[in-house]
Amino acid sequence: MTHLKFIPYGRQSISEEDMGAVKEALFSDFITRGERTESFEKALSDLVGAKYAVTFNSGSSALNASYFAANLTVADRVVTTPNSFIATCGAAFQKGILPTFVDIDKNTGNIDLSLLKEALRGKKTRGKTIIAVTHFAGIPIDMRSLERGIDDPETIVIEDAAHALGSKYVSGEAVGCCLYSQMTVFSFHPLKSITTGEGGAVLTNDFNLYHRLKLYRNNGIEREAPFIKGKEALSYYEVKEATSNMHLTEFQAALGLSQLKRLKLFQEKRRHLMSLYEKHLDLPFLKGLSDKETFCHIAVALIDFKKHKTTRDEFQNRLKEIGIGTQMHYIPLYRHPVFSEKRKGFHHFFPNMEEYYEKALTLPLFVDMSDKDLMQVIDSIKKLLR
Ligand SMILES: Cc1ncc(COP(=O)(O)O)c(C=O)c1O
Repeated sequence: MTHLKFIPYGRQSISEEDMGAVKEALFSDFITRGERTESFEKALSDLVGAKYAVTFNSGSSALNASYFAANLTVADRVVTTPNSFIATCGAAFQKGILPTFVDIDKNTGNIDLSLLKEALRGKKTRGKTIIAVTHFAGIPIDMRSLERGIDDPETIVIEDAAHALGSKYVSGEAVGCCLYSQMTVFSFHPLKSITTGEGGAVLTNDFNLYHRLKLYRNNGIEREAPFIKGKEALSYYEVKEATSNMHLTEFQAALGLSQLKRLKLFQEKRRHLMSLYEKHLDLPFLKGLSDKETFCHIAVALIDFKKHKTTRDEFQNRLKEIGIGTQMHYIPLYRHPVFSEKRKGFHHFFPNMEEYYEKALTLPLFVDMSDKDLMQVIDSIKKLLR
């Protein structure tokens, strides 16, 4: 087979306008904690219809911040999906809590809502329940039905929407509006809907959560009334919690603002590429990837490698040899040592996740990918699977 110039599975799209915006920010008086960050937060909250947005230096920091805002304690339980990146529930592990995983719907890769409902009825802890769900590959979970399955008013829902800026729920609202959850988290890593290099944000409609998110981002420092009473000195501050510095810079915010202008274009291009895969490749893909309301984040095919007398590893290597990058999203979280060394043999409880894990392969898909490159990927896959 002929060798191609390397086609990665994902890549950022940076324009001249993006570079101009970053340059302008770099020459301004404040290169961190300034007006551009505030404008980016306002643009994000306006876009999705939430009251508040707080940006962070990564999606992982933003997720940790959301658990902090939710006041996660060792007595709480965290119920989540095994089909995600560790940051979805990393804060639980950091507190010594082993998350309760719920099996997925193997057609979408998302948490199975009926199984989630059952899990919520199961064993309770002394504390509250935090549910963290991921809109996998940008395919939105039906959050209205998720919310209807919760009967404990103390429950806090965090949406990991790292893949889903630009997606809409079946109920019509934008992912991030926080109508059915307390907080939604985005990531601006280079392969996400838009990028700031590294970066993330938490959206919320709740002022107290908003305040705690900002506290977490800024070393737990409190400066303003009414949170500090009777101490009006200009340079006075109090440290309420020892966290860390997790601010986004002004030039990152400038990049984010500039990228946001092209979000719709990015979405259209990705949907177009996804529909070409579905049209020309006789392989099952996750359901909903090319739907109008999905911001197609990754092109996940479900391949019966055994039937084709190969393994995923061998198949990926053969594609790599001819210049095509692929990836696997995700190795089930319960299979990683951080969990499996404490709870052995857990995979038997997750037949859907296990089946998905056997077959899933992420194919190249990114905004600057040409139809020609995509057709070459399709031809190569067809030849290898013949
Ligand atoms: C589902 C999910 N959650 C969280 C994150 C963490 O985001 P970041 O890389 O910005 O820290 C990622 C990024 O890979 C992700 O894919």
